Amino acid sequence: MGNHELKGPLHPVSDLAPCPQFLFPAPNSLPHGHDKLESEFTSYGAALHTSTEERIIRPAKNVTGFLRLPGDKSISHRYGMLGAFAQGTSRFTNFSTGADCASTLSCMEALGAKVRRMENGAVEVTGVGGCVTPTDAPLNCGNSGSTMRMISGLLAPQQGSFTLTGDASLSRRPMGRIQKPLEAMGARLTLTEGHAPLTIAGGALKAIDYTMPVASAQVKTCILLAGLQTAGTTTVREAVRTRDHSELALQAFGARLTRTADAVSIAGPQKLHAIDAAVPGDISSAAFFLCAAALFPGSSLQLESLGLNPTRAALLDVLTALGAHVSVLDLEEKNAELVGTVRISSPDEGLGSTTIDGALAAQLIDELPVLAAIGPYTRGGIRIRDAQELRVKESDRIALTVKNLRAMGAEVTEFEDGLDVPGGQKLHGAAIDSGSDHRIAMAFSVAALRAGGETLIQGAESVAISFPEFFHLLDGIAER
Ligand code: S3P
Repeated sequence: MGNHELKGPLHPVSDLAPCPQFLFPAPNSLPHGHDKLESEFTSYGAALHTSTEERIIRPAKNVTGFLRLPGDKSISHRYGMLGAFAQGTSRFTNFSTGADCASTLSCMEALGAKVRRMENGAVEVTGVGGCVTPTDAPLNCGNSGSTMRMISGLLAPQQGSFTLTGDASLSRRPMGRIQKPLEAMGARLTLTEGHAPLTIAGGALKAIDYTMPVASAQVKTCILLAGLQTAGTTTVREAVRTRDHSELALQAFGARLTRTADAVSIAGPQKLHAIDAAVPGDISSAAFFLCAAALFPGSSLQLESLGLNPTRAALLDVLTALGAHVSVLDLEEKNAELVGTVRISSPDEGLGSTTIDGALAAQLIDELPVLAAIGPYTRGGIRIRDAQELRVKESDRIALTVKNLRAMGAEVTEFEDGLDVPGGQKLHGAAIDSGSDHRIAMAFSVAALRAGGETLIQGAESVAISFPEFFHLLDGIAER
């Protein structure tokens, strides 16, 4: 694939005055973003998990229905962050209802952006026009790795010192992967033994050409957001093409990027302008319902206005390879993101078998727990490799998937970078340890639909991190 340029106005450098250095935090900045969120957005829908809940999932006879899902988490993070950084007021409909994206908005509010939640579920964000307001208060990223890694790139070229904190899970996740490129650009990051809390001493940076050692859209975005504000051309090279929502969103907000098959470059500094956009339904949330439908011969599920960006839609190919009947209708492009309707039904003979490894494992990283969880119900099993990144997500997702499959009576073999789940197994209901990880809670709620007896999901409140409506919608499509 040759070079192709993404269009958008390139502002001459002289347009871009450096941010004035603020000596004092904004008078209304609060110590923790979440405090503000809770006080102003009690109807936000994003439950912040302060207590643990249990949910009982009963087996189902079938899965049928029509659904339209809340906005994609990855896209909402980017629209929220870029809208809050841009000049002007952006309006987003179908913004993610998850707590993670609320963390991004509350951090951006603490940095001077204005956020209004509208009654129809839309979000209006008035940006800081390229200069954040420094704050002494720590920015609380909650459970959200995307917030912490991406906002670090946004803040590194800004004047001031910024401290980022997170919950216990986020404070265990590796942050050296953003420290290395940002320090190569000249920023100074102080980590706590490789983790959050972290402090960024911001200031003017220099452009770099960086080859990413791990496939990570969050790290790629971190570097691009720093490059956006840095004179010269910053290039990020990736061996595996990770989700490209940042590239598409930056383009939609008016930035220019150059892309090749394995690299993206941004010539800074550039300004962003506000946009109006509808966030496509979240395909990683849809994955739980698509896999649920795949489990029941005779199922029929239709999901409308779903995000189908090719860097995110590999699940549809995998389900097709397993034998599910998948069709895509009404495909259209919105702000360069593909959106469409997906229909799925399961074959009478049940699902076959598949191996997920190499680049596919990186592209399906968020969908691997649910694919593993339906593995026992296939005829030939599911084999996952090259997925060591699963061990440093919101939980060690390999260890918890193995533990919970075994609790349900399944045979499974664990590897450092994946697992083998043989097919043709019958599972029984069990107590599931979600580890307060939203995707583990949802994956095993799906496995529970075909198990004998009831399953108890512990830490069920964690679904609110990405998908607060999950249990309600699952009840609606599960026939009992
Ligand atoms: C995300 C990228 C992925 C994914 C996460 C969201 C994003 O993480 O697991 O849920 O929005 O960029 P990595 O980039 O760390 O692989």
